[in-house]
This record gives sequence, structure tokens and C-alpha cells, in this order.
Amino acid sequence: MSPFLVTRTLPEDATDAALRADVLHGLTRTPKTLPPKWFYDAHGSELFEKITELPEYYPTRAEREILVARAAEIAGATGARTLIELGSGSSDKTRHLLDALSGLHTYVPVDVSESALTQAGQALIAERPSLDVHALIADFTGGLALPGTPGPRLVAFLGGTIGNLLPAERAAFLTSVRSLLSPGDALLLGTDLVKDESVLVDAYDDAAGVTAAFNKNVLTVVNRELGADFDPDEFTHVALWDTEREWIEMRLRARSALTVKIPALDLAVDFTEGEELRTEVSAKFREEGVRTELAAAGLELTHWWTDPQGRFALSLSMAR
Ligand code: AVJ
Repeated sequence: MSPFLVTRTLPEDATDAALRADVLHGLTRTPKTLPPKWFYDAHGSELFEKITELPEYYPTRAEREILVARAAEIAGATGARTLIELGSGSSDKTRHLLDALSGLHTYVPVDVSESALTQAGQALIAERPSLDVHALIADFTGGLALPGTPGPRLVAFLGGTIGNLLPAERAAFLTSVRSLLSPGDALLLGTDLVKDESVLVDAYDDAAGVTAAFNKNVLTVVNRELGADFDPDEFTHVALWDTEREWIEMRLRARSALTVKIPALDLAVDFTEGEELRTEVSAKFREEGVRTELAAAGLELTHWWTDPQGRFALSLSMAR
């Protein structure tokens, strides 16, 4: 039986403190914002899984297509003995990589969700008895301490989740990833690409309303965790494309003037009619931009793969 270790670097109460800080900061500034990481309670994670199956939401399928087509090349180019996956969630797409990486010794899934890590880890161990799995409960945006594992290392950050970070946050994140790597180690990064506005907006405003429910779920999280009295029906889901900054924004727009009480913060928050709360930025990329951002962090882009329709890209870059 191979070892299955779980290490928690996130204190049990860190989540609560971080949510309080984010809600206090985000709802007392103009314009109002909430960070997208609070979408993902159990219900929100289920809704996200549903999103990935929607006809309009192409990124998950496009990335999987690339992974299936390129897994052998990724394995050959990296020779990875350790795979570290940031935001591993269900580790679903990762199977393609794990199957291709023939010299793999250790898999380190990193996620804030202990339940996702434990489930995915147990399943993997059963399938691949010779693989060491060392799961890390950690917030990868906060700087990571990795277990001592054999090189070469490959860090995978899939799904296009890097697009949830603002440009300055991305720069800091990539620098912290680079600090985990030695020369010759690699980063496999999934990025959604700039494309026709209507395709992008539809992906974040689907006909069945699943993304709208996902967006409003953040209000339910704040209600449950902080005793707030948001009425999700009082808000409408908005998805818009920012042409200048080349990102999708999701917002929640107050249908009428209203006040929300948040007892845990001893706070009352006023919304004017039509006022919008920004809940997510999902940046879309171009090859040159990705290359430049990686280079600034000391990572050299060596491979750029897209799906046949050019909607999504996987890039491989090497630590210099
Ligand atoms: C999981 C962050 C990649 O930005 O496309 C899906 C989340 N938001 N629909 C994305 C999301 C709305 C998703 N990521």
C-alpha cells in the first residue's frame, strides 16, 4: 500500500477569518466586490460541475481535448517525477497526465477543500498503488511550502483559474510558483483565450441559468457563514466582456434599493437601485501576453498548445 498523506497548512479557522476580511473589505468599498473563491462551498462546487457540462461552457472540454492529445508530449518534455497540481479539486482531468507520466513517483494535489482532496486521493491510491500521494490543504495564492519530493517537478495549474487573478496578483502568483521550482522544472498552465464576445458572454450567461445560480450562491455563503440576510432573488446575474482589459466580469445587480445586514461583522450595507457587486473577473489571454507574464517570473514558455478551434491553450514553461 502506497502512502497517502494529508498535510494542512491552512488553520481550521483561517477560512472564516479570510471570509470576514474579504466581505468587510469588499462590501464597504466602491464599487463593491467579493472574491470568486467564496463561490465554492459544497453547493457551489456542484453548480460549477454542472457548468462544465453546459453546451455554452467550452473551456473544460477544450482543455481536456488538449490534455488528451498532448499528455505524452508533456511527459516527454518534463520527465516529471513529482506532479504538483494547484486547485486540484476532483483531480478529474489530471488522470490523463498521471497515466502519461511514466516516471512519476509523487503526486501532490493542493486544494482548500479537504473533502475534495481526500476523496480524489483515496480513489487515486486505489487505482495506482505505486504512486505516493501527498495532499496539501492550502491556499495556493498565499505561498506554498512543499514536501521534499524528487525532481524534476511539474506544477500544473489547469482550468483557466489563473484568469480569476488580477494582473498584479498573477505576477505575484507566478513568482511564488517559480520559487517552488529549480532550473529544468516546469509549469503547465491552462489559459482561456480571447475570442468572439458573444461566445465568451454566453459561456458566463448560459440559457439554463446555471451560471446565474452559481453567481448568486456566493450570497447564500455569506448568509450562512456570517448570518447575513441577502435575498438572492433581489439580484440579477450580469456577465459582461471588458474589451480593454480582455476579461469577463460577473456581477450581481440590485433590482431595487435595499439594505443587507451582516450581524457577524456588525455591518449594514446599502445598495442603490441597479448597483452592481463584482463577484468574478475571468481574464482571457493571448500567446504573447502569457509568454511575457511567464518570462517576468523567470519562466520560459517552451510549448503552446490549443484545441483545434483555438479556444483554450495549455502552455508549458521551464524554470530558468
Ligand atoms: C473555474 C475559475 C476557471 O472563470 O471560467 C465558471 C469559474 N465562473 N463560470 C471560470 C466560472 C463562471 C471558472 N474557473
